[in-house]
Amino acid sequence: MKHEAQVEQLRKIFGYLDAGETAMGDAVYHHHVSDYTSPDQAGREQEVLFRNEPLLIGLSCELPNPGDYVTDDFSGVPILAVRDEAGQVNAFINVCRHRGARVASGCGSGKAVFRCPYHAWTYDRSGRLRSIPFERGFESVDKTSNGLRSLPVVEKYGMIWVMPAPGGSIDIDSHLAGMADDLAAFGLVCYSHYETRVLRARLNWKLVIDTFLETYHLSTLHKNTIAPILHSNLGTFDGMARNLRMIGARKTIDALRQRPESEWDLIRHSALVYVLFPNTVFIMQGDHLET
Ligand code: FES
Repeated sequence: MKHEAQVEQLRKIFGYLDAGETAMGDAVYHHHVSDYTSPDQAGREQEVLFRNEPLLIGLSCELPNPGDYVTDDFSGVPILAVRDEAGQVNAFINVCRHRGARVASGCGSGKAVFRCPYHAWTYDRSGRLRSIPFERGFESVDKTSNGLRSLPVVEKYGMIWVMPAPGGSIDIDSHLAGMADDLAAFGLVCYSHYETRVLRARLNWKLVIDTFLETYHLSTLHKNTIAPILHSNLGTFDGMARNLRMIGARKTIDALRQRPESEWDLIRHSALVYVLFPNTVFIMQGDHLET
């Protein structure tokens, strides 16, 4: 986030602190329980949100070198993304063109080719089908047209987005709708990947997002952990098309009032929560970020 934008947000936060206020909606909103329990709705959300929108599948720092790769099954479409020798990230449907086995799993580094674990057809970092064992049994198979199916992919601002459907393109700046300035200013290309954890739970995906949309719960649910660090029930809100930004304030933020605005550093004294449509929660935590 640029400095002038930080100052603007800090003024807003100090106003909320002084008034004992927080950003609020125009009215109470009632969620139907079925939004979280209906299998039909979940199926429609899967189709509309997770098949036709660019999905953030990782940060550039997770794939620093040629042959570094990640796979992602969370959208329902198996995705493989790999950095090639030219430094470009390529994305594919992670499905072998022979009998449909996944050609890669998990993540890894320095992979020159992906060798299908079923019958050992191999594909390179550009998805080209390189070899077929016992090739005379597949005389009519044209290797040049049977590479891995490409998916649209964009790497920008230190982040990697993939569209989980072949064809088309990604206009990521339109998608981010003004949030790009903040993301660019974070300089994510200079970051290093520390850790990936996968937590699996049987719950509707929206519940995970919801918990990052308010700080109302901090003083009770996180009484002994986060509450001593962050102001409870204080958050800014800025919607940018289908994305949003909510800023929570660390209690250290008050010390900035004694400093000239030119020295105000919002990043060190806040938790900046971005929800990137449709399903990425991105949190800048001062000395690190989490997605
Ligand atoms: S399914 Fe991949 S080589 Fe047969």
